[in-house]
Amino acid sequence: MESAAAAQLFAHMRDRSHVAPKRLEGPGPSAQELDRLFEAAAQAPDHGRIRPWRFIVVPVDKRAELGQAFAQALLARDAHASPEALERAHAKAFRAPCLMLAVVSHTPSEPLVPLQERLISLGCAIQNMLLMAQALSLGSGITSGQAMHAASVRELFKLRDDEEAVCYLAFGRVVSHKPPRRRMAIAEFVSSL
Ligand SMILES: Cc1cc2nc3c(=O)[nH]c(=O)nc-3n(C[C@H](O)[C@H](O)[C@H](O)COP(=O)(O)O)c2cc1C
Repeated sequence: MESAAAAQLFAHMRDRSHVAPKRLEGPGPSAQELDRLFEAAAQAPDHGRIRPWRFIVVPVDKRAELGQAFAQALLARDAHASPEALERAHAKAFRAPCLMLAVVSHTPSEPLVPLQERLISLGCAIQNMLLMAQALSLGSGITSGQAMHAASVRELFKLRDDEEAVCYLAFGRVVSHKPPRRRMAIAEFVSSL
């Protein structure tokens, strides 16, 4: 017989789904809820305890700078980008009441931990946060995009040479949901040797 805790945990996993940042509205997480999200991240497995990742929150008063970095990134990709396209790139920075960048570090460590293990650790931290958000009745979304590795974005976030931006996390109240996505059946991803 499954415990109530296991059933509840699974219900949070099942009910979580990606919410596009434009569908996330305020109020965002309270200071206490935000701490809970980060405490959830800190429970992630971390081979060698090397702390290979971090998160950088983008407060509301820094969104314009992020928008500027997105627009600069577009110009770096396409010097002839139209004013409308630049405006769209700029506007992306203003979506979702709570926005943060997830960063992984590939600096050499002792013990040596390869990048894929560091990314797994970050992925676990992110999933912990998404599930905690679900338990707090907050919607969440992961996004990336073509500006992820742009010089303007690296500069704004003051990323070190040994760091890479991986994705953005957005949290807020859900305005509208897409229909639930079909999840894989066990047989689609499990086999026996
Ligand atoms: C690292 C990473 C980056 C992603 N970037 C985007 C993105 O830029 N735009 C988007 O629509 N979905 C993006 N996704 C996918 C969504 O976050 C989401 O996982 C996917 O649509 C499946 O929906 P689900 O999470 O509800 O199962 C990304 C996922 C990951 C893991």
